[in-house]
Amino acid sequence: MTAKLPRFVVRAHAKVNLDLRVLGTRADGYHELRTVFQSIELHDTLVCSERPGPFTIKSRTATIPLDRSNLVWKAAAVLWKALGRAGDPCDTLVSIEKMIPMEAGLGGGSSDAAASLMAFARLWGGAPVTLLREVAAGVGSDIPFFLSGGTALGLGRGEEIYPLVDLPVHWVVIVQPAFGVSTAEAYNWYDEDRTAGLKEPREPQVLPVPWPSRAAQMVNDLEPPVVRRHPEIAEIKAALKEGGAVASSMSGSGSAVFGLFRTRPSAARMLRPLARGGARTHLTRTLTRAEYERRSRAVAKRAQARLH
Ligand code: C5P
Repeated sequence: MTAKLPRFVVRAHAKVNLDLRVLGTRADGYHELRTVFQSIELHDTLVCSERPGPFTIKSRTATIPLDRSNLVWKAAAVLWKALGRAGDPCDTLVSIEKMIPMEAGLGGGSSDAAASLMAFARLWGGAPVTLLREVAAGVGSDIPFFLSGGTALGLGRGEEIYPLVDLPVHWVVIVQPAFGVSTAEAYNWYDEDRTAGLKEPREPQVLPVPWPSRAAQMVNDLEPPVVRRHPEIAEIKAALKEGGAVASSMSGSGSAVFGLFRTRPSAARMLRPLARGGARTHLTRTLTRAEYERRSRAVAKRAQARLH
């Protein structure tokens, strides 16, 4: 006998930070932030299907955790409980096709979690968006941004999201160094350097576009502590600027560095020269909030499954 089991396909887009200021440390150990998130076209793809049995994550990418430590699993567990369901999540299979570099500051894990929440909401009979936002903020600081995308201001731990006027579309070159940086590590280095009294002057970059936001000056307070441990990041940033980028910066907690370009050809010609010393390069572009909403929607797919 064959039966059609529900299946949803959802894109999980990456982000870069057009600005990230650490305003202070908090009693809960987190850092108070003011950041500007920007969605980009680069994305993972998730397929969330109904499948009898325990909750399962699978991926062809060997470095992804497939257990409870995956943010997708955490998001599933918290949403399951918030919907009043008993026990652990079950009867759901999530397969992740990974394109977003990991430990890069591009929000891949957080975006996967947000995308899966949107798919679970449909697979599990609906959930109000306010509940999804609450669940997202509880699972990780960056996740709420990925429920709406585009250009947005993040306050608090980064989880309090205010939509901004969209950045006019730019082409983005991402350089992923051979090493990764974990988020917790970058914040620890920031704290260490502050304790040691180290502090660089900030060098704001003006984005020469007709765009009414002065919030995005491409300053990243996590960059100096990460550059101190990995000077290659400063070299990549300078190479992007020399190559004609309107502005360049480390994204989030690193290790990826990105440059903004006005045209595709001007961005594309940077890909080969910067792919050296184990670094990988990616060409992508920014997404407006409307584009993000359209592209990141969970789409129903009919699946044939064999039942015995
Ligand atoms: O919230 P999330 O689990 O993504 O954060 C990962 C780690 O990054 C935290 O455990 C914390 O060490 C650090 N972090 C922080 N301040 C923030 C966001 C993250 O110190 N605003």
